[in-house]
Amino acid sequence: MIHPGLGFIPQDASPEEIFAHVERMMRQGDWMQKAGEPLLSRFIDFPSLANKKVLDIGYGVGWLLNEYVRAGSEVHGIDLSHSHYAYSNYRFRNYANVCLQVASADSIPYTDNFFDFISAYGVIHHAGDDQQCFSEIYRVLKPSGKVFLMLYRRGGPKYWWRKVLRRGILGGGLRRSGYEFTKFLYSVTDAYGKDSPGAPISRHYSRAQLEELFVNFGSVDIKIFGNRHEWDYLPAHKFPLTSWLLPRGVRDRLVTLSGAYWIVNLSKPLK
Ligand SMILES: C[S@@+](CC[C@H](N)C(=O)[O-])C[C@H]1O[C@@H](n2cnc3c(N)ncnc32)[C@H](O)[C@@H]1O
Repeated sequence: MIHPGLGFIPQDASPEEIFAHVERMMRQGDWMQKAGEPLLSRFIDFPSLANKKVLDIGYGVGWLLNEYVRAGSEVHGIDLSHSHYAYSNYRFRNYANVCLQVASADSIPYTDNFFDFISAYGVIHHAGDDQQCFSEIYRVLKPSGKVFLMLYRRGGPKYWWRKVLRRGILGGGLRRSGYEFTKFLYSVTDAYGKDSPGAPISRHYSRAQLEELFVNFGSVDIKIFGNRHEWDYLPAHKFPLTSWLLPRGVRDRLVTLSGAYWIVNLSKPLK
């Protein structure tokens, strides 16, 4: 995915400019990593992945693959998108320890118990059969192997205000989906290039749904994740007093209760 923002126009950009832009987008906040540290290093222990077999599902243009390369992992990636494959394959063309394929998480082209670590950042909520994807992740993970996921959350201002109220009710999305709420929510998705199946649907999970999906995993840690700008979606943000009433520290605390995403850490039991 070429993350939109900062006035960047991907059509006019070289692959290197696209990689640099996505890196800048991912580094915008301090909630995923401290300045200068690997992306997502608040959540992923990169030094522990040296010489380990790592799989990134839905690698996009490869910003997370890049961190695994720097950590010295044996890096594997699958993504449904041919254009993402072309970008990432070009990006890592000189690295013998990076193996990328076009493949789906619902049929992972590896043998059982192969990986030490598997990540899927913003991916499985777009899959048609998410349950099958999680079974596949479990199958190819070694006993005591670990999983890191980012998934959309059902809750918070981004979900209720921007998606349900603005797109669903005011924007007519619910009406266009025949007033079927799940069908409408599935349709609130990002659209990628024509050659990319990218994100045909978007699921938004509750904690209970996730606990049910991960019932086979040995340890399950599910945390709310988001960024302080999610509160800016609310119209109250336009009033000058709001920033004063909701200073940065308060917003950071609110986000741990109301963020638009889940961060999930799983591990596979030994037996
Ligand atoms: C929102 S993008 C996220 C990309 C990347 N992880 C990032 O954060 O930039 C979702 C990615 O998942 C891929 N994808 C969607 N469904 C998939 C599936 N079933 N199996 C593998 N990749 C999938 C898409 O092609 C796309 O590259």
